Amino acid sequence: MSHSQNRPAQKPDKTKLWGGRFLSQTDTLVESFTASIGFDCRLYEYDIEGSVAHCKTLQRAKVLSARESHTIIKGLRQIREDIRAGRLIWKEEDEDVHMSIERRLTQLIGPLGGKLHTGRSRNDQITLDLRLYLRDALQHLQQDMHRLQQSLLALAERYIDVMMPGYTHLQRAQPVLFSHHALAYVEMMERDKGRLRDALVRINVMPIGSGALAGTNYPIDRHYTATLLKFPKITQNSLDAVSDRDYVIEVLSGCAILMMHLSRLSEELILWSSQEFQFIDLPDGFCTGSSMMPQKKNPDVPELIRGKTGRVYGHLFGLLTTIKGLPLSYNRDLQEDKEPLFDTIDTVATSVKIYAELLAQLTVRPEPMNKAVSEGFLLATELADYLVQQGVPFRESHHIVGNLVGECLAKGKDLHQLTQQDLFKASPSFDNKAFHVLTPEAAINQKNVVGGTATAQVTSQIKSWKKILRSESTTFSKKKRTP
Ligand code: ARG
Repeated sequence: MSHSQNRPAQKPDKTKLWGGRFLSQTDTLVESFTASIGFDCRLYEYDIEGSVAHCKTLQRAKVLSARESHTIIKGLRQIREDIRAGRLIWKEEDEDVHMSIERRLTQLIGPLGGKLHTGRSRNDQITLDLRLYLRDALQHLQQDMHRLQQSLLALAERYIDVMMPGYTHLQRAQPVLFSHHALAYVEMMERDKGRLRDALVRINVMPIGSGALAGTNYPIDRHYTATLLKFPKITQNSLDAVSDRDYVIEVLSGCAILMMHLSRLSEELILWSSQEFQFIDLPDGFCTGSSMMPQKKNPDVPELIRGKTGRVYGHLFGLLTTIKGLPLSYNRDLQEDKEPLFDTIDTVATSVKIYAELLAQLTVRPEPMNKAVSEGFLLATELADYLVQQGVPFRESHHIVGNLVGECLAKGKDLHQLTQQDLFKASPSFDNKAFHVLTPEAAINQKNVVGGTATAQVTSQIKSWKKILRSESTTFSKKKRTP
């Protein structure tokens, strides 16, 4: 018995754009299970931008006439207006953003709409859309990070005179300038921006022409499509092009590191705003109260940002795990890249924006910080270094000062409260100038190396960051911000 005899006499499923070989309709459960329209509809601007470029490329290859191409592009622009104005209703049965737009196009311009997909597959289309989306999203994120850096820099400038304990192991270690601490986060943000910029190099590669997996039969000029869409490069292997999501993973990884930095900042803001530290006052507009305890002002924003870091890490590991076992080339599993990516971008963008604002309104409290600097033997290393200057080997001076600290602890005193005699007893190399090093200001200004906390160094860092951020602002203002 031949196959044709086996086929029941049913009509093909015409409700789907791909329904030709199907004899019954998609199960409704499967329809909603496989649909991505609920989340990929946010890619519509990029999908249409890509389709317009593809259409022009088809015309250049004489696959479409000028008139056909003109009608299709007009239709696509009409659809874009309709979507922007909320006139297009996304339907689950259309499955994804690509098919929703194609169906609408055919409704608008008739069967000609069906020619747009010539030489293209949703497999190369979706990776193009994602690349276009990410180019924009990362541009916006970098601008917001730039604002966050500016807020940190403004804090550093405003409180340039404020000293605080620098910590290791969360134990008071040595005095530092608060500004130095703030600038440490500016450094982190700069590396984060750099990682996203690096990812952009690999995002900026045009994949159309890869077809479903093997390339396309039509003589299209892929470089032309790339030029239209401002891609400096085109992909070189169609199998790789439709299955590659490295760039998504790179973005998730860059965002995970960025969130790790924001989470560390959160932890400090939470600690510093506690009764125990009282180093800062968080702006009221960024805190919430307790439903039961009237006195409470809780640091919910830093707590939530610290908490959301977990979910951003989760997205990175989720996608790595989704992709690790996939044979080449495209597999539907890859549809699972979008929700983690979108959620990551949304979470990170909001966190960065909120911190840029919160830090701009942060109040630093110099008294508790200065008080904390003056207690807790933060100047012990200064004293040990003083002995080194007098020719005592550092190991020995470390031991001598350690003994002095022990003595102070026993007597309930601090180092600067010792007498000249106490010092001389501990080591004859101590002279009366030793007390000069026993002030936090002296300790700070002694650290006069590049990267050190001396006021001169920190001031020059502020100056150089201002210059860097100013020149970056001009590049941002040249690029328009899309909605
Ligand atoms: N929604 C799909 C995705 O996100 C688009 C590509 C679908 N391709 C396919 N052959 N089913 O990956």
